[in-house]
Amino acid sequence: MVVDERAKWNDRYTAEGAVDRPPGALVDALPHLPTEGRALEIAGGLGAGARLLADHGLDVVLADISSVALAKASRLAQAAGRPIATLAVDFRTEPFPHGPWQVITCFHYLDRPLLAALAGHLAPGGVAVVGIATVTNLERNPRPGRQFLLERGELGELLADLEVIAYDEQWSGRGVHEARFVGRRGDEEGDPQGA
Ligand SMILES: C[S@@+](CC[C@H](N)C(=O)[O-])C[C@H]1O[C@@H](n2cnc3c(N)ncnc32)[C@H](O)[C@@H]1O
Repeated sequence: MVVDERAKWNDRYTAEGAVDRPPGALVDALPHLPTEGRALEIAGGLGAGARLLADHGLDVVLADISSVALAKASRLAQAAGRPIATLAVDFRTEPFPHGPWQVITCFHYLDRPLLAALAGHLAPGGVAVVGIATVTNLERNPRPGRQFLLERGELGELLADLEVIAYDEQWSGRGVHEARFVGRRGDEEGDPQGA
């Protein structure tokens, strides 16, 4: 059966109850992030992470497949006095948002080709922060299902083009087994894929 991802996520965000709190991996990574420049939050849902990045001083674009989530995120950001830009995009089928970016973040959205190409969208010296649950999470939580989970050690391999600032895989304070990566683009090249 073909799943309409946009409709699925719009339905979820139309129903009340979607969690809107900043990813713990982002909270922990903030000291490593620049305080100015462009930031892209990939698949950021209701935008708690994007608002935190805006608070940090960054000029944020929140990109997600769900127009419902983006509309709610926009309202929440306005109400908090931290406006953000939003972009409706299906990362599986549409071009990556035009870079380069000083910061790219991605939490609990697993798209292996996207992660493997992330370094090419960062400005030189730019920082990526990624946090995604691993298969070990299934030992305590039935969801998300295995197709949404990283293998052990996999995140470091996918992001091997970045210089590692911090990387670990462990149970978070929220009871989720996560791989968390913070890395920097060290080279001086441009943005071949975003240009
Ligand atoms: C599990 S939620 C994670 C939300 C947020 N990053 C967090 O950690 O709380 C997954 C998010 O990915 C978005 N998403 C799913 N498939 C997508 C796609 N193909 N392109 C862009 N966003 C997508 C969903 O709309 C949803 O907001």
